[in-house]
Amino acid sequence: MTNEQIQITNDRYRLGYHVMPKSGWINDPNGFCYFNEYYHIFYQHYPYSPEWGPMHWGHARSKDLVHWEDLPIALTPGSTEDKDGCFSGSAIVKDDTLYLFYTGHHYYGDNDPDHFWQNQNMAYSTDGVNFTKYENNPIIESEPEDNTHHFRDPKVWEDNGKYYMILGSQGKDGLGRVILYQSDNLKEWDYIGDIAKSESIEKEGFMWECPDFFSLNNKDILLCSPQGIKQQGKEYLNLFQTGYFLGHLNEEKTTFSHDRFIELDYGHDFYAAQTTTTPDGRRILIGWMAMWESPMPEKEDGWAGALTLPRELVLLDNHLYMKPVDELKELRTQTLDSGHIYLEEPTLLSKQSSHIEVNLEHKFEERKEITTSFELKDASNQLLLSLNYDNQTNEFELYRPDKDDSRFALISAKNTVELQIFIDKSSVEIFINGGEAVFTERYYTEDVPQVWINASDGVATNYDLYQLNEK
Ligand code: FRU
Repeated sequence: MTNEQIQITNDRYRLGYHVMPKSGWINDPNGFCYFNEYYHIFYQHYPYSPEWGPMHWGHARSKDLVHWEDLPIALTPGSTEDKDGCFSGSAIVKDDTLYLFYTGHHYYGDNDPDHFWQNQNMAYSTDGVNFTKYENNPIIESEPEDNTHHFRDPKVWEDNGKYYMILGSQGKDGLGRVILYQSDNLKEWDYIGDIAKSESIEKEGFMWECPDFFSLNNKDILLCSPQGIKQQGKEYLNLFQTGYFLGHLNEEKTTFSHDRFIELDYGHDFYAAQTTTTPDGRRILIGWMAMWESPMPEKEDGWAGALTLPRELVLLDNHLYMKPVDELKELRTQTLDSGHIYLEEPTLLSKQSSHIEVNLEHKFEERKEITTSFELKDASNQLLLSLNYDNQTNEFELYRPDKDDSRFALISAKNTVELQIFIDKSSVEIFINGGEAVFTERYYTEDVPQVWINASDGVATNYDLYQLNEK
């Protein structure tokens, strides 16, 4: 290991308007918050190689959720209480101070990567740039007795003058769960117990990472990233999932009764999402735009991974919609094209830029069976990804030739289907019908991608294309 930040050797996959590491590795978003007129996002980061290593907290801030400014690394591991890593966590603002909560990671030193222990720590800042680790760390020394060593990713919130912390955990019975602590001062924490737990490893996983908790429309939502859920038909196809349980946390905050686990994004590249609220009360989410064990070809160029665009969460008919925040309209620098066509043959919409927003609206005639497609191709017409929709089954299929496999999403039946697609140099985020279903994907080519659309039979189609700002 050296102490030099690794260098970027090639820009071919560097993103234009997403948060990504200056160089090196990135995974989960951490500490998402609003403090002193800025949104802050931190992330799991290893600056010395494009691989996961002793975790630091990288840091960026933004006035508008659109333009991000890189800041110095906020947390560096190596203190007694975070010797082998500053793992994921969250932030809260209290009395003009920004507090970070994170997991200290510790190996036993026998070269067994699964032989570790974890504790919970705090750091604080008054300028939002320089952080001091709390003198009396750890704030939670060790896991409760009925827990294994999987005990991490604190998410802290305030409710009625009291502070609550949930942690991703694994019970001694080998099941994933979320445990709750309570505090009056952010420093001393009392254990309350588990509030929700996996039914079985196959159904709900052996470890729940990165929990988050919030309410929308008087419903409580537990967001988490379970490991170990088994594929069931066309669901749970990624190595690990991120999704939510909709339910109700009882008054005593001891039990969260809930419905089944639902995946939040159907793409290959989405994990460990975290939320915050905006000053005007919206609930916004950012995720890691990758997946554990994914090859990430940008590693060859000295970096790996990025964060998704910020998305607003809206609960409609007991379903969590994820739509791009309105502020992202600020990314548009010009309208490249717009029009109305009767789509019935392969149609090239764009090949002029790697940073575009494509909005499509297909209006299906009643009872006519149609499949539509959206495709990205490289300059030699090789498919980079395709998205097909069948208006009879209401199913979307996203296919990635580099992985040779598909992801699926079902939407509610409608005569109009709208796609809002953000293409960056090596990423695509596809929002369907205002965020009812979302696919987050990476793609890799050194060419400017060609955007093609098609339909198996005629369908009235409106399109708008915008050039997006590349920072
Ligand atoms: C989720 C995760 C967290 C952990 C972090 C380590 O992707 O495994 O549970 O804190 O990554 O980088």
